[in-house]
Amino acid sequence: MKIYILFLIIILQSALVFGASRDPIKAKNGMVVSADPLATLAGLKILQQGGNAVDAAVAVGFALAVTYPQAGNIGGGGFMNIRFSDGKNYTIDYREKSPKSATQNMYLDSAGNYISDKSKFGYLAAGVPGAVAGMLLGLEKYGTLSREKVLQSAIQYAEKGFPLHYNLASYINSEKEIFEKFPSSKKIYIKKNGEPFLEDELFIQSDLAATLKRIVKNGRDGFYKGKTADLIVEEMNRGGGLISHDDLKSYKAKIRTAVTNKYRDYEIISLAPPSSGGTALIQLLNIVEGYNLKSMGHNSSQYIHRLTEAMRRVYSDRAEYLGDPDFVNVPLKWLLSKEYATERRNSIDTLRATPSQQIRNGVQPLQETTQTTHYSVVDKWGNCVSVTTTLNGGFGNYVVVDDAGFLLNNEMDDFSAKPGEPNMFGLIGGFANAIEPGKRMLSSMTPTIVLKNGKPFLVIGTPGGATIITTVFQIILNTTEFGMNIQEAIDAPRIHAQWLPDILLYEKNGLAVDVVNNLKSMGHTVVERKGTSGSAEGIMFDHKKGIIFGATDSRGYGAAVGY
Ligand code: DON
Repeated sequence: MKIYILFLIIILQSALVFGASRDPIKAKNGMVVSADPLATLAGLKILQQGGNAVDAAVAVGFALAVTYPQAGNIGGGGFMNIRFSDGKNYTIDYREKSPKSATQNMYLDSAGNYISDKSKFGYLAAGVPGAVAGMLLGLEKYGTLSREKVLQSAIQYAEKGFPLHYNLASYINSEKEIFEKFPSSKKIYIKKNGEPFLEDELFIQSDLAATLKRIVKNGRDGFYKGKTADLIVEEMNRGGGLISHDDLKSYKAKIRTAVTNKYRDYEIISLAPPSSGGTALIQLLNIVEGYNLKSMGHNSSQYIHRLTEAMRRVYSDRAEYLGDPDFVNVPLKWLLSKEYATERRNSIDTLRATPSQQIRNGVQPLQETTQTTHYSVVDKWGNCVSVTTTLNGGFGNYVVVDDAGFLLNNEMDDFSAKPGEPNMFGLIGGFANAIEPGKRMLSSMTPTIVLKNGKPFLVIGTPGGATIITTVFQIILNTTEFGMNIQEAIDAPRIHAQWLPDILLYEKNGLAVDVVNNLKSMGHTVVERKGTSGSAEGIMFDHKKGIIFGATDSRGYGAAVGY
């Protein structure tokens, strides 16, 4: 840890405000918050060089691909939500797509049984990566600096190495058995002498540095064509994967229209399908808008009951209606309407839990993970960027593209492999999210920007699979209903429910025993989860005082840095 801290201190200049304490970090000019301190610093450097929030966000994204390989990536995908100070908003969808040769039943055996491991580990689990296309689209259209400048820190961290954080070293070591299975991954994630990685050990990734340099030189063609594409296809061929040259060449990131809605005095701007995040978040807020939540008290049984009932209803809609809008017709207008929310609210019994459908057998309820990652950036002009990106599971499908040095995703598991079969987050779905060639799998990622009186109030997001939506939901309520500062709002204990499985989860020691007992007596199946839920990275504004507050989740090891 000492070397890691020293490394940070060397990079940091004295004028910076740095920390990950209980108090939010305060700054006047700009703020970067990410799950990894070195990636945060990469973004800050760009802001200080005069780059805008998009430049800085892209710098953070590429840096995370090096220093936070469990989730940061160029082999995965994500969503970027940009709001410029002139009021213009753009969202970029760079979600992975299924390969063109993917088929609806590709994870079923001949008897039609779902072979769950196939969509989670190894070659067949990978979707066509979108991260490079999306980040470069953002940079070209909305950034101001060159690729060379923006990728400089990432290349440096890869080429010269960076000292491993204790958590990352432990995480890599804990996955040794799986990395063993893939020779290309073994080369990077298992030491030649078989010894475990140690905290502060320098982690050098030369192949990845070379890949990043090809991206600097040739832009998206440095990834989707030429040597990198050849290496991806060769890797696929070695292991029976489906991604082809044609899949890579034809991948396109898309600029989508955000979903927006009012919640009391606030305006919510979030991601439209193929993420379910923004839609579900707005539905949740619409439903609870009809209650006086403040008077119930934060995390009281009455409060949690209402949140849970709203979650139960919204996740059942998610399972039925949400999917890639290029393939299915998502009835967004209706789902987002206040009228529909009122109808849903009216169906809530304020004293009793409404049972969800029959509880499914064998569903592992939502193991907690740190495998997606979020970052929030604000620049001196007041432009805001909120990005969530992922490989899906930790280290994705565990397959490193040989000689290219990066991991591929296991995002195919986000499809509904068979109607009614839960994915790794216990989420089920049907036709709308069934596998089709070239389709984007449904996401829960919810990079969100909240406005008040037309000005930015909150820039927020988190990892956590199915819990992403409910985490962002609760953080918004914590700030808007309960007046918490951004650090308190992020650190406060969270709950989660998602229709099926029909359980109400709370974080370890997150609820008082009498609250749990009250909820049980109302008919909820209340379960304490083993660990924590999500790892949010947020920024909040006090326009009167001219202060930007940044906060990283105490559940992770990220950093908020402002200047
Ligand atoms: O797109 C999604 O919703 C998932 N692939 C996110 C996975 C995730 O958050 C895992 N990490 N905690």
